[in-house]
Amino acid sequence: MASLITRSALVVVALFITACDKPTDSTKQIQEKAVVAREAETPPVIDPQLAAEGQRLYEQNCVFCHQADAIGKPGTAPSLTNKEFLSVASNRFLLGTIQDGRPGTGMPSYAHLGEKNILAIVAYLRDHAVLTDRSAAVDAQPEAHGDPRLGKIWFDQVCLTCHGTNGDGYSAGGTGTAIGKAGFLSKASDGFIRTTIKEGRSNTRMLGFYGAGPETMADLSEREIDDIIAYLRTMPSKN
Ligand code: HEC
Ligand code: HEC
Repeated sequence: MASLITRSALVVVALFITACDKPTDSTKQIQEKAVVAREAETPPVIDPQLAAEGQRLYEQNCVFCHQADAIGKPGTAPSLTNKEFLSVASNRFLLGTIQDGRPGTGMPSYAHLGEKNILAIVAYLRDHAVLTDRSAAVDAQPEAHGDPRLGKIWFDQVCLTCHGTNGDGYSAGGTGTAIGKAGFLSKASDGFIRTTIKEGRSNTRMLGFYGAGPETMADLSEREIDDIIAYLRTMPSKN
């Protein structure tokens, strides 16, 4: 534990030294205002009957790992009702992940349930949303054009302690998911990854890495975040 704290302190110091293109104070103020504006948006309206059917299926198939209300459990399964997650994950991402599972992780395939039942589970999850579904705009963000060699340096310094070597996730002893495996990378757009790194996921160990604010763990620049995404995109061949 002590060494972990020392390591995080070093990481924070390293980040402040290495980040060179930081946003100015005025951009930070604009970002804070944007966060407030987002919080005020309205969640999608869900058919209550469909959500109730989804809850029944969720409790039969998923609750064992993802827990009651799908709040997740560190090192076992991520939260599926986290507000930032639901606001960036498209129905396509959710459907595809549940159908295919994530090979090489604890997430099984549920293709046998059929698309109709899986969409009921998606409705049940969306029924927990407190923010607007922004997934279309997030997926339309430009692709990351970063330097994977620099990305590896940032990843190893900042992300590896939770997401494991090569992003192997829980199997490497981390509390973060397997972001280096094809199961995740084949479904997630660069915008999904970028927004998650920037904003984090509240009430989980994944804090944001961009800009000021209580939910921020450290301050990476836009370019450093794109370097990390470029590095992640080289991963599936390695594991
Ligand atoms: C203190 C631990 C911690 C650190 C450090 C951390 N993460 Fe995470 N990350 C998590 C956890 C935990 C989750 C999943 C949230 C949950 O369990 O509900 C996550 C989720 C994610 C996701 C979404 C993955 C998915 O399966 O949908 C991405 C992308 C991500 N992190 C990228 C990063 C990157 C890149 C870094 C380094 C800049 C990083 N994280 C640093 C703990 C961490
Ligand atoms: C045996 C445990 C287990 C069961 C049962 C399970 N999951 Fe998972 N699930 C996981 C794990 C572990 C992950 C993270 C895998 C990784 O490291 O990428 C995950 C990831 C996910 C993700 C991606 C979340 C993210 O942050 O990107 C979704 C969506 C999901 N599960 C939905 C479901 C649904 C719906 C069910 C039931 C039909 C279900 N899971 C059943 C263990 C499980």
